[in-house]
Amino acid sequence: MSMRAHVGDQLIVESPTTGVTKRDGEIVGLHHDDGTPPYEVRWSDTDQVTLVFPGPDAHIQPIGHGREGQREATGQRTSTATHRGARALSEAVIMSLVEDATAAPSMHNAQPWRFEYSRRRRVFHLRADLRGALPHSDPELRALHIGCGAALMNLRVAVAHEGWEAQTRPLPDPGDPMLLASVTLTRPLGGEADPAGLYPAVRTRHTSRYPFDEREIPPPVRTALVDAAHREQVALSFVSGWHLQYVVDLALEAEARNLTDAGAAADLARFTRRADDTRSATEGVPEYAFGPRRRIGKAPMRDFAGGKPVPGRPMADFETLPHLVLLSTSSDRPVDWLRTGQAVERVLLRATLAGLSASFVTQALEWHDLRWPLRDPMSGMAYVQTVLRLGYGPPGTRTPRRPVHDVLDIEP
Ligand SMILES: Cc1cc2nc3c(=O)[nH]c(=O)nc-3n(C[C@H](O)[C@H](O)[C@H](O)COP(=O)(O)O)c2cc1C
Repeated sequence: MSMRAHVGDQLIVESPTTGVTKRDGEIVGLHHDDGTPPYEVRWSDTDQVTLVFPGPDAHIQPIGHGREGQREATGQRTSTATHRGARALSEAVIMSLVEDATAAPSMHNAQPWRFEYSRRRRVFHLRADLRGALPHSDPELRALHIGCGAALMNLRVAVAHEGWEAQTRPLPDPGDPMLLASVTLTRPLGGEADPAGLYPAVRTRHTSRYPFDEREIPPPVRTALVDAAHREQVALSFVSGWHLQYVVDLALEAEARNLTDAGAAADLARFTRRADDTRSATEGVPEYAFGPRRRIGKAPMRDFAGGKPVPGRPMADFETLPHLVLLSTSSDRPVDWLRTGQAVERVLLRATLAGLSASFVTQALEWHDLRWPLRDPMSGMAYVQTVLRLGYGPPGTRTPRRPVHDVLDIEP
């Protein structure tokens, strides 16, 4: 039987007489869809990649040998052709995966994340970058965890789209709480659509601070969004009736407080970029993304201009009653915040694919006394983690990100 391999398998060369391993390496590239040689192999001793035509002293050790080995023993090994075809993890691929991760939303576009990738262990580490913390608006780092959770979701989607199955562990080191997650690429993926199917929305999702149509969101779309959050162990509920009015009022109250709060103004000033601002344009919310000023309507929009006039900024009529959803959890620990971030991004990607636009309405969450009454008294979920506004309208605008080489370290 001819030799067949997947990207990620080990190629082992043994001495034919003693059975001692002479050399081993990871197969990082295939030249034929059916997994037959030659292979591009990254040798473990030199870390060099060479093209290899394996001789009789070489054999393949499948990645994730448990399951694969069993299938091989019973003659049911899945052929490479049935896999989505994982590409070798070149530096360009790793950088593009991290670029996808950083397309995620973060409060004030502060991008509070860093990534490390270990080639040998094929693992990404996601770390909090406290330079992106907001001391006044987010002293507990809840929003920081949510933004990083959203980036983690994008990374999971991109890795799956790339053809890899991944194992994600939140907060893998209890002694290092700023190490937020590890994502280990375990084996080439089968044909699963989840979460790879969300990939087309990763770079087209933007926060839209424009008015939305009053049109209803059809029940199947609502159900899909509830399911998206549920997959990340977070509850999503559409707010309606008196509760909707109440949530809107709480957000408006928070927005009014923010406008006169020195701390909130300081966080905003650090991360908003007016048209004549000469500081780095790789973070923060640029003036072109502020959206129009509200003339009428009840959509509670954060005013990134801090109440100050912006030359040429138009006025617009917003929804009389916006579509708002609450994302909630039953406890309020860092792991819940990371789950929320992943759920938020899953919901936003799913909404984008369904033609919906979205913005965040998180002002009330930043005031202790306003957060508690936000919750839906009929749900068992005590902690509201995020409020999103959804609707049919302009898709929003792309905002800047720090370049990947500023946020990624690749280790051998
Ligand atoms: C936890 C969190 C809170 C946010 N709060 C608000 C908000 O209250 N109002 C708003 O307009 N945008 C809010 N945003 C959206 C960010 O401003 C936005 O993600 C960032 O500027 C990047 O833009 P993008 O989403 O278009 O990529 C929030 C985002 C996160 C993750």
